[in-house]
Amino acid sequence: MTGKIKVLVVDDIADTRENLRRLLQFDSEIEVVGEAANGEEAVIFARNLLPDIILMDINMPVMDGIQATSKISLEFPQIGVIILSVQGEQEYLRKAMSAGARDYLTKPPGSDDLLRTIRQVYENEKLRLQMLTIPEEPQRKSGQIFSVFSTKGGVGKSTIAVNLAAAIAQISGKKTVIVDLDLQFGDVAMLLDLVPRRTVSDLVSEPDLLEPKTVESYLLNHPLSGLKVLPAPIRPEYAEVVHNNHIENILTVLKGNYDYVIVDTRQSFDDITLTALDQADTILVVSTLDVLTIKNVKLGLEVMASLHYESSKIKLILNRETADMGVSVKDLEESIKFPVSCSLPSDGKLVVMAANRGTPFVISEPKAPISDSLFKLAHDLTGIPETKKDKAGFGWGKLLGGK
Ligand SMILES: Nc1ncnc2c1ncn2[C@@H]1O[C@H](COP(=O)(O)OP(=O)(O)OP(=O)(O)O)[C@@H](O)[C@H]1O
Ligand SMILES: [Mg+2]
Repeated sequence: MTGKIKVLVVDDIADTRENLRRLLQFDSEIEVVGEAANGEEAVIFARNLLPDIILMDINMPVMDGIQATSKISLEFPQIGVIILSVQGEQEYLRKAMSAGARDYLTKPPGSDDLLRTIRQVYENEKLRLQMLTIPEEPQRKSGQIFSVFSTKGGVGKSTIAVNLAAAIAQISGKKTVIVDLDLQFGDVAMLLDLVPRRTVSDLVSEPDLLEPKTVESYLLNHPLSGLKVLPAPIRPEYAEVVHNNHIENILTVLKGNYDYVIVDTRQSFDDITLTALDQADTILVVSTLDVLTIKNVKLGLEVMASLHYESSKIKLILNRETADMGVSVKDLEESIKFPVSCSLPSDGKLVVMAANRGTPFVISEPKAPISDSLFKLAHDLTGIPETKKDKAGFGWGKLLGGK
């Protein structure tokens, strides 16, 4: 991203493309590098021209702007897609944003609006890349962030995040917080039997969001595990008020005040999730042994490589391992070219019972094989050596009616 801002214009109507080009031609910092007449062309041109910004129409023949945005943001997350839509395309617009578009403008855009939006999206993207490449000051004492992620839903992200957080709190005895960034359908509070009244969607409206005291006042206590919890909004629509800069601030504050921050995410490369991945010290990518998940995890790892994440920052976690799936751990590793760091066995009865009760199984059944694997992972991530005391727990298993 040096020199001029390279813009690709995508619209099926030649006049519209011409008008956009005219609006941009007198800006000395912007260069229109190409024009595409449909989504399919846009994907090909994106690949060949590597623009910084794409101005994307929604309704187009062959391939529409939403599909094209989704493909481009997966393959080239560094390209900022700005959607141009006519009034009343609200539903399409929402789809385009969740497909990875960075901003949108109503057609026909005014020259000022157009130039400002292009610059803003370009600058945001540049900052994001810089954040990834500037090393942190080594002397700054700060907590570690572990983000649990997958490109597939329902693979066990929340189960792992909650139980890993409880295991880390237990073995370290240090300040540990779990943040639920599955903002629309977060499950963390429920898995811990907590009923939040205030959540991250209320926190972001606080004027002094950068004050540790403010963030702290929104954290729930989970006395059984010693965890603090920042729950997801109570209703899916409340998620809209939370933006990636809020999350960046919240994670920075938590990192400065907690030893361990565990983040649960949703299965897409949206801005919020990207912030959690950018800020993570370690990304735990969860896969299972089915081909659909493996395909998506492989794509996800490719995206992470194109985002310049070091492979040492990523750990592959295999969940629900059983011998009789027709796909082995070796097949998985060979297919996605990444080693499995930790395998968690399938244990439907224990996992579902723990979820229904709202008690992490690492607390109720610390000696179960799945808990054992999670404790090992907790030791591995924190660097805390294993001791016999860990799995003896604090007698919670019996207290909670466990074996
Ligand atoms: N190791 C396991 N053994 C058996 N069942 C499991 C295991 N891990 C998770 N599950 C079950 O799989 C389902 C999905 O788990 P979970 O909600 O943790 O996944 P997720 O990736 O967070 O899903 P989502 O994408 O919806 O947020 C749940 O019913 C959970 O109880
Ligand atoms: Mg989940």
